[in-house]
Amino acid sequence: MFEFLKHKPKTAQPIFEVLGNDMHCHLLPRVDDGSKSEEETATCMRVMRAAGFEKIFCTPHYQYPRFPNIEEDILERFDNLKLDLAANGVKGNDVPQLAGIAGEYRIDSGFQQRLDANKFLLIGGKYLLVELSLHQQVMGVDQVLFDLQMKGYDIILAHPERYPYYSSSSHVLEHFKDMGVFFQVNILSLGGFYGEGPRRKAFEMLDNGWIEFMGTDMHNTLYAQALIDCTHDKKIEKVLTSHTFLNKSLTDPTVTNKKL
Ligand SMILES: [Fe+2]
Repeated sequence: MFEFLKHKPKTAQPIFEVLGNDMHCHLLPRVDDGSKSEEETATCMRVMRAAGFEKIFCTPHYQYPRFPNIEEDILERFDNLKLDLAANGVKGNDVPQLAGIAGEYRIDSGFQQRLDANKFLLIGGKYLLVELSLHQQVMGVDQVLFDLQMKGYDIILAHPERYPYYSSSSHVLEHFKDMGVFFQVNILSLGGFYGEGPRRKAFEMLDNGWIEFMGTDMHNTLYAQALIDCTHDKKIEKVLTSHTFLNKSLTDPTVTNKKL
């Protein structure tokens, strides 16, 4: 298992120390299309620590009907993951601290029910991470975002560079920015993991000053290998030194969280 780590001599460089926190990953095992086991989670976490991350927030998918996760179950699984990793000696400085559990909520046909129930797990007790379909444009997204804001949520839109229907309609993304929606780019997008289109769009939005957060969106060991490659990418290193991101504020005790 995890043969790639044995045969690839390349190791991660700690270039993401400047971010401190990863705020988007799927390392809670067996709840979505992310990690399949505690062992896979530990392997990914070791790579993330070597890449410089000190703390991570797990953000499993909440997506109707594919991943009908409920918050109570996710919270229990998160506690069990921490116990399991500790029991197996996965701790200390080898891996990032599991700082919190939240979610990546897809705005889909099941979202209104969640909105009505006002039931979300927030990153750092503050930010609601939402995503859109990766294939088909959903109408009325701006209204949903507005409704969330009216309820007091600070919204982060996950990987806006990955929505192909927005690739040539930057005015929609600009409208979201005007509304005060935070944007999170996937680090792997910058390395070309999802193709040339998302890579170009990611750099374009960084140049526009539209990106407040960077995330790994780590799912499995394939992503971990791609993250290692990213730590050797000079263009990504330059992004980290030439932009300011809010990742570190997520565990800053001086930041007041509105919702806990
Ligand atoms: Fe994700």
